[in-house]
Amino acid sequence: MSIQFEKFVRPLKLRALEIPNRIWMSPMCQYSAGADGIPTSWHTIHYGSRAVGGAGMIMVESTAIGPRHRTTAHDLGIWSDDQVSAHRELAAHIKHLGAAAAVQLQSAGRKSSHNVPWLLGGQNSAVTVDDGGWIPMAPSAKPFGQLTVPVEMTISEMDEVVEAFFQAAVNAHAAEYDVVEVHAAHGYLLHQFLSPITNDRSDDYGGSLENRMRLPLRVCKAVREAFPQEKPVFVRITATDWIDGGITMEEAGTFAGRLAGLGIDLLDVTSGALTADVPPPSRHGLNLEFAEVLREKSGLAVAPVGQLSDPDLLGTVFESSPVDAVIVGRALLLDPYFALRLAGDAPKKFWPSQYHRAL
Ligand SMILES: Cc1cc2nc3c(=O)[nH]c(=O)nc-3n(C[C@H](O)[C@H](O)[C@H](O)COP(=O)(O)O)c2cc1C
Repeated sequence: MSIQFEKFVRPLKLRALEIPNRIWMSPMCQYSAGADGIPTSWHTIHYGSRAVGGAGMIMVESTAIGPRHRTTAHDLGIWSDDQVSAHRELAAHIKHLGAAAAVQLQSAGRKSSHNVPWLLGGQNSAVTVDDGGWIPMAPSAKPFGQLTVPVEMTISEMDEVVEAFFQAAVNAHAAEYDVVEVHAAHGYLLHQFLSPITNDRSDDYGGSLENRMRLPLRVCKAVREAFPQEKPVFVRITATDWIDGGITMEEAGTFAGRLAGLGIDLLDVTSGALTADVPPPSRHGLNLEFAEVLREKSGLAVAPVGQLSDPDLLGTVFESSPVDAVIVGRALLLDPYFALRLAGDAPKKFWPSQYHRAL
């Protein structure tokens, strides 16, 4: 089945930014950065082809705010001048091809210093300091699976994280990205603070929800202040940990409300990936209803991600769900033209003119 093209080719205006349609590419780490976290021709072609393929916004993969915040030695970074100038070329390229350009800002916390997925033991194997890795830091000294045991962060290290996110947002603006997204999900640093499963602290940053939200809220406030008022800021938020004793929808709703108070513009709604032994359930539209509830509770725009590639389901979403956009991951890895192909009977005009003779 193809879906009514007009249903998702509707622009979405957030602050001064007009995003051309409602199907966006999810941030997906490519582990393909060059020296010192600099985007390469892989990124240019990979993101450019999805922009040609009709995704309304390209969300560039998780991009570290500093060297110790990377997941692997091949992650993108956005802390140095050389990185910023390469990001400026990448963002310009994406925008030239008709999509909005976003970048996801990341601190990996305890899910840090591992191998790239296709090498050696992959994501579940630690790279030790002797092999060029580093010691991860986290709210508590609890490791992720077989990865290196992290050190419990000090207050001054938390202050440094806030400052590094601030500077990363300044740098993202200097690189002329349209949007920055704070990664507060999938078991990375800010999610580790939010969840009682990974946060055992007994100071002002652990225990009650108010305390567990403290660092994520400080980071989101700093990023909002650093990024220009006319440009939107997103937060990737977890709706549930899928673990007893973890984050619930009620807590996620409270967090979402506080993000609204900080001037965050959109929640990118996901769930799970906090621990190595609990995969999220396999179900079409997994986070769709969570997004609808969080929209209701926070008043913010929302875009769910996760197993949203079935054309029938997408047809229903665009027909009747209040969500503001849909974020697609793996389906866009397999097919850069996923968005254009959704509408088999789409008018030619939506395809690039250069391809019209094929239609
Ligand atoms: C290769 C790969 C890399 C990923 N990297 C990131 C990332 O950098 N940041 C992030 O928030 N999620 C990342 N994810 C998760 C996706 O963004 C997305 O949330 C997930 O794949 C579910 O959406 P899907 O069912 O449409 O693939 C990654 C997923 C894949 C497959």
